Amino acid sequence: MTHVSLTAIGNFVSHQFNKRSTSEQPATATVTFNNLGVPVSTEFDDIYFNNENGLAESRYVFLQHNDLPTRWQTSLHSTFRIAETGFGTGLNFLACWQLFRQTAPAHQRLHYVSFEKYPLQKADLERALGAFPELAELAHALLDAYPAAQTGCHRMQFDNNRVVVDLWFGDIHEQLPNWLPNAKNTIDAWFLDGFAPDKNPQMWQPNVYQAMAHSCRNSGTFATFTAAGAVRRDLTEAGFEVTKSKGFGRKREMLRGTIQKKANAASPPSETVTVIGGGIAAACLAWSLTQRGHPVQLITSGIADGASGNAQGAVYPLLHAELSPLSQFYVSAFDHARQFYQSNCPDLWHATGVIHLAFNAIREQRQHKIADSGCYAPELVTSLTATQTQTMWEPLPALPALFYPNSGWLPPQRLVEQILRNCGERLTIMEVSPITEISKTSNSNWQVETSASERFEASTLIVAAGANTSQLLAQWRIETQNVRGQVTQVAANDVSATCPMVVCYKGYFTPAINNNGELTHCVGATYNREFKSESYQDIEAADTEENLLTLQDNLAQPWTHELRAVNNRASLRNTTRDHLPACGWLTDNLGVLSGLGSRGFTSAPLCAELLVSQWLGEPQPLAEPLIKRLAPQRLQADSA
Ligand SMILES: Cc1cc2nc3c(=O)[nH]c(=O)nc-3n(C[C@H](O)[C@H](O)[C@H](O)COP(=O)(O)OP(=O)(O)OC[C@H]3O[C@@H](n4cnc5c(N)ncnc54)[C@H](O)[C@@H]3O)c2cc1C
Ligand SMILES: C[S@@+](CC[C@H](N)C(=O)[O-])C[C@H]1O[C@@H](n2cnc3c(N)ncnc32)[C@H](O)[C@@H]1O
Repeated sequence: MTHVSLTAIGNFVSHQFNKRSTSEQPATATVTFNNLGVPVSTEFDDIYFNNENGLAESRYVFLQHNDLPTRWQTSLHSTFRIAETGFGTGLNFLACWQLFRQTAPAHQRLHYVSFEKYPLQKADLERALGAFPELAELAHALLDAYPAAQTGCHRMQFDNNRVVVDLWFGDIHEQLPNWLPNAKNTIDAWFLDGFAPDKNPQMWQPNVYQAMAHSCRNSGTFATFTAAGAVRRDLTEAGFEVTKSKGFGRKREMLRGTIQKKANAASPPSETVTVIGGGIAAACLAWSLTQRGHPVQLITSGIADGASGNAQGAVYPLLHAELSPLSQFYVSAFDHARQFYQSNCPDLWHATGVIHLAFNAIREQRQHKIADSGCYAPELVTSLTATQTQTMWEPLPALPALFYPNSGWLPPQRLVEQILRNCGERLTIMEVSPITEISKTSNSNWQVETSASERFEASTLIVAAGANTSQLLAQWRIETQNVRGQVTQVAANDVSATCPMVVCYKGYFTPAINNNGELTHCVGATYNREFKSESYQDIEAADTEENLLTLQDNLAQPWTHELRAVNNRASLRNTTRDHLPACGWLTDNLGVLSGLGSRGFTSAPLCAELLVSQWLGEPQPLAEPLIKRLAPQRLQADSA
């Protein structure tokens, strides 16, 4: 049997273009390159950066006139935050990141937030940034992480999470209300970019300046290349003290300004956080906290011993035919997860693509709706005809399918262990007998008690105990449902061993891995709401048979009949009634991350970032309405 190479798959997919008809999705930028190689926007008939020296202008206008790098040396805060109107090619960001690497104190972090109405296509970004060889390494990292053109926030992390970028796609006027409620008094410097005010009057509006003022910390600054009178007046009106400076190159003038507010307190000293759990949720939390300088005490019955302990798991977004809150969440979560695994565990992340076969008429109809919705960028999901499915890998059945080109698989157990190792010395792991009780102490801390009567006190506690979370938080009456799942490992045969991607149908089938010298695949997984809680880990022969029969029935290919089961594993998914995670704070020092259902490896990295950002009062990586949707309080017994 032959199969197409992954390069061929990449090329093939880049030529699939889904309809983008909804006004909810950002149109990508239409860009041409002038004879100096500078990108020009067709929408605005303006250049993205200076014809003579874009990098020098970026440094002069935005870095120098916000007093960088001096302020990095003197900042009272452990994280310096910059916000920008118009990400464009990312040149300002790259110039800033380069300077930050070169000059900022080692303990400091950079958080860069940028809004972009017309995301550049990756190829245009690559060509535009190719003009700056000294930024090549950083540009390469940005290109690897660059998200699909989907409305909403895309959090990217670089330099071991020392540099965080929140890229908000969509019109700034529409995205500010999603961002600002959680970003007041957090920003140190604004890069007020955007095409010239006379070419883009829609963006240069007082509400943007007011949002800039509200979001600034005391002594926050802005710089902009323009000296337009209306911009100057409106920024003054918003509260900035505005001054004119000499413009870059032949430009006469530009503006800079400062805002005075009530003084901010310096960043508090790093506090230890206690996390209950040893699965992907707890590992991602430990990572997000330790990278911000907080010691973490992880208390758990085991590491990757629950749902996160399988040999292989698929990572791809859960999408509806409309941009429901669920789809919006998974779009952001998926792009973040993909980037998180690629940069933190590159050896364990396999971006093979995931193909989802339309194995029956209902599924086919549902997939058509998703493909035709115009809601999703082709980098995220694209549709395949029956013939195209077989071009992907000939032993697949001739069925139409959805293809998720940037998705893939990872080995959950090894990944959890790796993330915990990456946390370094700030992480302490305590394997204990099962925790039986969480209670409040007289000084408003939390006491955690195990079945062996060991006691731990926590000033801040996060419960990420998967299937046992609701039970541990019984007094909060959070209703989740546990669903038993059994996954079967099968020995590969000559045909199956060539499978280049994750194949989903009613179940899923993963590419082969080397398992102690034997090539095996994971065939998953059963879904049982009814099970005996004392024996759910026992292997059921009927479930093994069900996994194999579903594969054989849905694919109807001879090679599926020759697969032999060599191992099984059963564990519990913790699910919610709306299929969204439970992620948020029950009190100011008691957090929850659970309810990750069947997609924990897609959702956990972003949920951990959200929870930690909430706790620290940082700008958050999701739109405010979505954050509310994830709050665990929605699942309280009397809240339905
Ligand atoms: C069969 C099956 C297949 C799956 N396939 C995929 C897939 O392909 N892709 C995907 O993204 N997701 C998949 N999932 C879902 C995914 O595995 C889960 O969403 C994810 O692992 C949940 O992680 P968690 O950290 O919340 O919980 P868990 O991994 O279950 O971790 C909970 C942790 O808490 C600890 N703990 C629990 N109770 C206590 C207590 N009382 N005291 C002390 N410690 C305690 C446990 O020891 C454990 O370490 C699958 C799930 C199953 C069951
Ligand atoms: C001059 S370019 C920015 C250059 C960019 N800072 C860089 O480093 O390449 C202006 C950017 O603002 C974006 N933009 C224009 N109007 C916008 C709006 N209303 N909301 C968000 N972005 C907008 C444009 O699409 C464009 O990418």
